Amino acid sequence: MNLNGNTILVTGGATGIGLAVARHFYENGSTVILCGRRKDALIQAQKQYPRMIVHQCDVSKAPERVALRDFIRNDFPAMNILINNAGIQRRIHIAEPDSWSDTQSEIATNLEAPIHLAQLFLPHLMQRENPAIINVTSGLSFSPLATVPVYCATKAALHSFTMSLRHQLAKTAVKVVELVPPAVNTDLGGPGLHTFGVDVNEFADSVMKRIAAGELEVGFGLSEGTRLASRPELEVIFKRMNG
Ligand SMILES: NC(=O)c1ccc[n+]([C@@H]2O[C@H](COP(=O)([O-])OP(=O)(O)OC[C@H]3O[C@@H](n4cnc5c(N)ncnc54)[C@H](OP(=O)(O)O)[C@@H]3O)[C@@H](O)[C@H]2O)c1
Repeated sequence: MNLNGNTILVTGGATGIGLAVARHFYENGSTVILCGRRKDALIQAQKQYPRMIVHQCDVSKAPERVALRDFIRNDFPAMNILINNAGIQRRIHIAEPDSWSDTQSEIATNLEAPIHLAQLFLPHLMQRENPAIINVTSGLSFSPLATVPVYCATKAALHSFTMSLRHQLAKTAVKVVELVPPAVNTDLGGPGLHTFGVDVNEFADSVMKRIAAGELEVGFGLSEGTRLASRPELEVIFKRMNG
């Protein structure tokens, strides 16, 4: 994949992995549009990278996803890459009382949005040159961490969807890429909860080199091992993670 000459939309792109990945496209001369819910986070990202375009949008809400497609089609018709990166992670115990609307929102953000956005943008992407969809899943797609059960289920489903999408689009120009992060030091789940993770720029530098070289499923460190593990190896990984 060429990192230059694209127009890319990154959901949840104002922070963390989305911003670190977006930077590689930006520094190679691509036009970058970031979307997210928090205006202050979007403005902060734009201060860092002044040519980036920012757009407030909550991808957990279907009407906002449709409005996002319309905005891009009208204002950035050259858009050729969709990066489904927005995600939230909640630590919950299924047996304890919890707000169903919060759980629904986690499913909507992590799973419904990438599926719906793919549907909404594919007719547009099919008419562009070098089109691609990059879905951000997780090492937890392959072996769950039981303290974040809904998150892991959404990421496993997104991995599955990404495989089917790639298969369905194999005869088209649309490349379907899966980015499989390990624990990365971002604010995922809340500030301070992922400080044990790898450095976000170290992660992005490695995976973007491989995506640029044409790889379609890319992990880093522990997630590279997990995505390639056999079923018996996954059982060992599951026990180690949840022990
Ligand atoms: N960090 C890790 O250890 C790790 C590991 C595996 C996979 N991942 C995945 O990597 C992706 C990026 O996460 P991150 O680690 O970079 O954490 P992050 O910094 O918290 O980034 C998540 C981004 O998503 C945005 N977002 C959340 N809900 C949204 C919504 N409804 N609509 C639009 N934007 C929304 C957030 O912005 P607003 O709050 O302003 O909307 C934020 O910018 C996620 O899909 C996550 O699951 C992360």
